[in-house]
Amino acid sequence: MKRIHFAGGCFWGLEHYLKNIDGVVSTEVGFANGSVDSPTYEQVYTDTTGHAETVAVTYDPAVIPLKELLEDFFCAIDPYSVNKQGEDEGTRYRTGIYYSSPEDLPVILEVCREQGDSLAVEVCPLACFFPADERHQDYLSKNPGGYCHLPLSIFRYAALARDLKNLLGDETDEVARMANAAALVKERMGFFWVGFYVVKDGELVLGPFQGPVACTRIGFGKGVCGTAWKEAKTIVVPDVEEFPGHIACSSMSKSEIVVPVFKDGSVTGVLDIDSDSLATFDKVDAHWLGRIAALV
Ligand code: SME
Repeated sequence: MKRIHFAGGCFWGLEHYLKNIDGVVSTEVGFANGSVDSPTYEQVYTDTTGHAETVAVTYDPAVIPLKELLEDFFCAIDPYSVNKQGEDEGTRYRTGIYYSSPEDLPVILEVCREQGDSLAVEVCPLACFFPADERHQDYLSKNPGGYCHLPLSIFRYAALARDLKNLLGDETDEVARMANAAALVKERMGFFWVGFYVVKDGELVLGPFQGPVACTRIGFGKGVCGTAWKEAKTIVVPDVEEFPGHIACSSMSKSEIVVPVFKDGSVTGVLDIDSDSLATFDKVDAHWLGRIAALV
């Protein structure tokens, strides 16, 4: 087991998210890298002790490599925001990655580089960590509906990805895997249409899906699906009317996300999701649907 510490705004929400990620064994909230020993929540709340609200994460690197855990963490923060996450402001809400094993540093720096330039995320060794009192541990499990700066979808996705991995198990048939993945995503997230198109003889052909009937074939570079295939990247469309060449399978579809599925570095299909509301999909959907597509 390995340990790493993340500061990402209010620790109630961050812990609730991280503990649901497959491979995370346990979490504890507390205060890191400040100047007072054993501070209380109230002391840290004055924003004068220098601590960051932090989640200590114990994880199994055989199940979740550090690189993936870091990417999951980045999904939950605005890495450019200085001392502010959601509506929570102050140095205690800064973002940070605090490592205890120096060999973790190259991976941390690589992921930070991939996330962008001039990030406001502090990267340094863990200097100290003081657990918060029991009332703050697992706060959102004890107080469902309690304050949280993170979107609900992020908790649902972490649990969905974990459960999907268990559900797929060692099933080797790709159609069976796609079928159950489409069903679970539809059931948990409630989207209007969830399905796969598979590359066959130079075209995308309709695969397992959940939702209204859909068009069966899409050419390379055509529509949102064909474009995601061609560009080998996730495409988020806030308003399908604004996407040149969008293929309308249903007039109810208002926004869409298409995530490529890769095998041995090539796109072998896409995961396509439609919503009946505008602007449904954001960076949380793009990140976690990417994870889900990789599981399938
Ligand atoms: N809208 C897609 C076509 C597939 S349906 O959404 C199920 C596209 O433009 O590629």
